[in-house]
Amino acid sequence: MMKTFDEYLALVNSAIERIPYPARPANLYEPVIYTMAQGGKRIRPVLTLMACDAFGGDITRAMNPAVGLEMFHNFTLLHDDVMDNADIRRGQPTVHRRWGENVAILSGDAMLTMATALVVDVEPRIMPEAMRLFNQTAIEIYEGQQMDMDFEHRHDVTQEEYIEMIRLKTSVLLGCACRLGAIVAGADEDAAQGIYDVGVNLGIAFQLQDDWLDVWGDPATFGKQIGGDIMNNKKTFQLIGAIAAATGDDADELRRWLSDSYALRDMKVTAMTAIYERLGLKQRCREEIARYSALAHERLATVDLPDEAKQTFGLVIDTLVDRTK
Ligand code: IPE
Ligand code: IPE
Ligand code: MG
Ligand code: MG
Ligand code: MG
Repeated sequence: MMKTFDEYLALVNSAIERIPYPARPANLYEPVIYTMAQGGKRIRPVLTLMACDAFGGDITRAMNPAVGLEMFHNFTLLHDDVMDNADIRRGQPTVHRRWGENVAILSGDAMLTMATALVVDVEPRIMPEAMRLFNQTAIEIYEGQQMDMDFEHRHDVTQEEYIEMIRLKTSVLLGCACRLGAIVAGADEDAAQGIYDVGVNLGIAFQLQDDWLDVWGDPATFGKQIGGDIMNNKKTFQLIGAIAAATGDDADELRRWLSDSYALRDMKVTAMTAIYERLGLKQRCREEIARYSALAHERLATVDLPDEAKQTFGLVIDTLVDRTK
């Protein structure tokens, strides 16, 4: 019997609460404790437990790797918030705003190492495979993050380049989460690859939704500052679409905002959002999200899993691409 998302989540949360941390140096560990206690959706560890369960594995054996992936994800957020100059995450000040950039770098490093130790806490037989998957995924995420930064300074990024960038920075970790659960369960290569692909397609829809929420989300629930991507000239689906579609006054205005490094936040975010909406990008972005969630569903249908497990994954896909935070 599969559990619900919330039941896996409760197991993950209690395992995270039990992680022991040294007390000193406080400025190394307090930011780690602060970040891990903030919550967040915990989708990566839930996917790991879910995949393990779906393939008939013992989910208690997937718990440390699952928590390791969540710790790794949180490490990337500490560094990402420095890189994106973000003030707020999960409704609270970011680590670099509260403790400074040096602390965000080093506490992030500590989280990466703790994460690795947890991920490889599996049976010796599967440890090399878990390590290989995790290292490969981590490198791809760094590649995606660098592309994301490089794209801030380029205005000729294509939608294909954007999709490849988000596949790397975000989606492969969701794929990895699914695959790790399958590995712990002893699933065969076809099944492991299948559930990985489901995670990757879901991950692309997930990052498109994150970029959509960055513009059209509700500040009360999103937990991050609306318009962060606009302020950084992040090449999102909607900005790339706007650059391609804008003509006349819209094109002039877009060009001015993109080159204005001293723009006032409210003015730039309001103006850019209006341009996106005039060009129909709010809706087109939703269609792109629907396209990748459909791809996730299609791939899921091909994976050798009981119907009940498919339904559980299917529900996660639908819930995540409709989320408000
Ligand atoms: C934020 O990830 C970074 C992205 C890949 C969009 P989440 O949206 O999973 O963040 P939390 O962990 O739930 O806060
Ligand atoms: C984050 O992308 C991807 C990683 C952290 C690797 P974003 O920069 O869009 O994530 P948020 O919006 O800050 O959570
Ligand atoms: Mg970023
Ligand atoms: Mg960011
Ligand atoms: Mg974002």
